[in-house]
Amino acid sequence: MLTSKRILLIIGGGIAAFKSLDLIRRLRERGAEVTPVLTRAGTEFVTPLSVSALAGRRVFSDLFDLTDEAEMGHIELSRSADLIVVAPATADLMAKMAHGHADDLASTLLLATDTPVLLAPAMNVRMWQHAATQRNIETLIGDGIGFVGPNEGDMACGEHGPGRMAEVPEILAAVEAALADGPLRGRRVLVTSGPTHEPIDPVRYIANRSSGAQGTAIARALAALGAEVVFVTGPATVPPPEGVEVIRVETARHMLAAVEAALPADAAIFAAAVADWRMAQPTDRKIKKTEGGLPVLEFAENPDILATVSQIAEGRPSLVVGFAAETHDVVEHATAKRARKGCDWIVANDVSAGTGIMGGTENAVTLITDEGAESWPRMGKAQVARHLAERIAQALA
Ligand code: CTP
Repeated sequence: MLTSKRILLIIGGGIAAFKSLDLIRRLRERGAEVTPVLTRAGTEFVTPLSVSALAGRRVFSDLFDLTDEAEMGHIELSRSADLIVVAPATADLMAKMAHGHADDLASTLLLATDTPVLLAPAMNVRMWQHAATQRNIETLIGDGIGFVGPNEGDMACGEHGPGRMAEVPEILAAVEAALADGPLRGRRVLVTSGPTHEPIDPVRYIANRSSGAQGTAIARALAALGAEVVFVTGPATVPPPEGVEVIRVETARHMLAAVEAALPADAAIFAAAVADWRMAQPTDRKIKKTEGGLPVLEFAENPDILATVSQIAEGRPSLVVGFAAETHDVVEHATAKRARKGCDWIVANDVSAGTGIMGGTENAVTLITDEGAESWPRMGKAQVARHLAERIAQALA
């Protein structure tokens, strides 16, 4: 039920707008109050009269209608809702949202709000698949915007593929989920991320190419599902997520100490690219060129944080997830790594140079559990994070 939940429903311009009329009825049947906003393009597909008749209240449609502003300003309109639903969400409206435009009532409401937003995209299949739309989706997911659909099927334009707006029952389920407490509420999850730096001397260090993008996205996705997230990060290039506890470390040994101090946790996700070796004898004096020929660097092995936590005798997190960055025989190596380290799941990816994954925006992963290997299609790192967070929520349920 959605008793007394206040939904601001933005109806964009698209043939799927007719479904939003039924959506209004079904939302109201469940007890929600629906305040409708119709974009200018939306009025080409459904009339303000039918929308306001079904909603039982007036429809807002133009930012510069001074009567609207006097009755309720756009800031108040956007914030007095429990959830903003955009159905249909057009490619154009999503592009405006991704870039922060505010040139009409709908885009202004979406920029001014601090309320959760759920989009039900609907567009031609080519528009959905276009790199620009996919980039915008990635940005919006990163901003914490929720999505339902689109579905695959025959489209009004005669083509077939993804782009059909989700059906009303699916949108209702997504609205109910968005308004419920997240499935990870009350769960504490630890995430490691980024590279580690191992000093050679006070000015030089051993590093790797990890940007921290995947770990950051995972922390954000877990927080979006309601988890209390402790984010232990090495010196990453992407900024840490908001709304989580951030612990900054430099070396593998710092990271292990921070992880141990942060336990207990319900789940621990080890996305950091930890340096396997450190200098056996780091020096606090800069190594000089002139001091007797080429320096010989002697290494010592770093502690394996994932293996250490996986093998804790008492108080082990009930789900321990490691990553495996491989360049060949990905599933075989990752399966062996899972057994060797003793973790529950391994998220394996192919980081060979041609894939563009290391330091890039996309990832193609295989999830290895005790049920075997499951390959996910190549997708944005935020989408990988969202899928993984949902699987973690199911596992902890
Ligand atoms: N890891 C860790 N501590 C380390 C090294 C790795 O916690 N000292 C974790 C990583 O965060 C990742 C997983 O172990 O979740 C896999 O790391 P990876 O470097 O790919 O595996 P290795 O065991 O180092 O094996 P190899 O380098 O031979 O592939």
